[in-house]
Amino acid sequence: MTQENYKDAIKDPIFLVIAEAAAELNVASYVIGGFVRDFLLKRGTPKDIDVVAVGSGIDLAQKVASKLPNNPKVSVFKNFGTAMLKYKDLELEFVGARKESYHEDSRKPIVENGTLEDDQNRRDFTINAMAISLNKDTYGNLLDPFNGINDLTNKTIKTPLEPGITYSDDPLRMMRAIRFATQLQFNIEEKSFASIAENKDRIKIISKERIVDELNKIMSSPKPSIGFALLHKSQLLPFILPELSALQGIEEIEGHKHKDNFWHTLEVVDNISKNTDNLWLRWAALLHDIGKAPTKKFHKKKGWTFRGHEFVGSKMVYKLFKRLRMPLNDKMKFVQKMVLMSSRPIVLSEDFVTDSAVRRLIFDAGENIEDLMTLCEADITTKNTKKQRKYRNNFKLVRQKIVEVEERDQIRNFQPPVTGEEIMKTFNLQPSKEIGILKEAIKEAILDGTIPNEYDAAYNFMLKKGKELGL
Ligand code: CTP
Repeated sequence: MTQENYKDAIKDPIFLVIAEAAAELNVASYVIGGFVRDFLLKRGTPKDIDVVAVGSGIDLAQKVASKLPNNPKVSVFKNFGTAMLKYKDLELEFVGARKESYHEDSRKPIVENGTLEDDQNRRDFTINAMAISLNKDTYGNLLDPFNGINDLTNKTIKTPLEPGITYSDDPLRMMRAIRFATQLQFNIEEKSFASIAENKDRIKIISKERIVDELNKIMSSPKPSIGFALLHKSQLLPFILPELSALQGIEEIEGHKHKDNFWHTLEVVDNISKNTDNLWLRWAALLHDIGKAPTKKFHKKKGWTFRGHEFVGSKMVYKLFKRLRMPLNDKMKFVQKMVLMSSRPIVLSEDFVTDSAVRRLIFDAGENIEDLMTLCEADITTKNTKKQRKYRNNFKLVRQKIVEVEERDQIRNFQPPVTGEEIMKTFNLQPSKEIGILKEAIKEAILDGTIPNEYDAAYNFMLKKGKELGL
């Protein structure tokens, strides 16, 4: 066992308070898990601190709170034998050391008191099982029975026990392994990865919320494709996002092939992650092509088509969010809108870029126009450098045009320059469908560029159009 001293990790005065409280209760205490891992990885000083007490974690939490200014509130989770308190910007979680086994069909553990080593044995990965002593004689010593420090250096995710035991005890750990591999760009030890594939069915007992937490952490990493490729390889993906799994594969008929839309999607997600931290825009990138599986068809003349995949895809977004108990709010609507519009700028950039097409794009995308352009630029994954250059240049042109058109016509938050009320007054109309027809005609004329987005022009156009309608 390593006996090096890591006092630097526990410089914050809070650790002295914990140590004093533990000494008064006559229990040994240690800081453990993510705090130690992230300190050693120099990922900054973590704000979440997990403390394990060889005794009651709840009693220790209460003692610590009683010693802190203003006695912060302790939240106790009796069933789990844990307690949590917040102090300044820190979140402290206390747990009693335990020997643990799990029910076959749930994550709820049967808890038995144990030693520090018992507790370290039951943790998920060697890099998360390291502890630093807060006890008087050994203050600052690192207790690392599985040589986690070595795995940090070798960038390896490995379980302390036989992987089959660790994963089947708590199947969420399969997702955690993949999430850590993505966040830290570590490898999952071969034996461990094989065990994930073997135990994949057990992911079914994990709540959707916890799965989505892990997915969001994968998605927020610098290179999310690492995680999705591992989810695919381990065959966990069909349990979680079958819509994505369905995109994998290339079919060939009469010499016509289509691209593998799964691997293409992963490239798009990595591309967009270089340009945005917006989690929902990243989700839009992940889901932008999901409509391609159900709409795929082969035509003798046209080859492979995916007609209406954007529309079908945007409908699938709702079902997917609902199934995974993700928020069905404006975030979901944003993802739907991005998926629905995901081909618009591409179609536009393949063609000659006209002002009116740009105006329509701005009108439909509204305040999300920038995000849509970011998505479309990320969608360029062709390896043909000539094509790549052409698309990039065209998108540059589209962006320029957006700025020009926006300055002139202010379409982004379009408000009709002539109101329905004014139309009614001018033509002495009661509420009727003619008002809608006139309003729509004015909007169309502005978007087409027949008239500028200004009151006088719109008013005159309304008079002319009204005459044509015999009003
Ligand atoms: N842990 C575990 N099995 C789990 C979840 C957590 O063994 N399914 C242990 C690990 O030792 C972990 C610690 O509990 O380090 C704290 O868990 P958590 O706060 O969820 O994760 P961190 O490792 O702190 O990492 P992050 O904050 O990035 O989620």
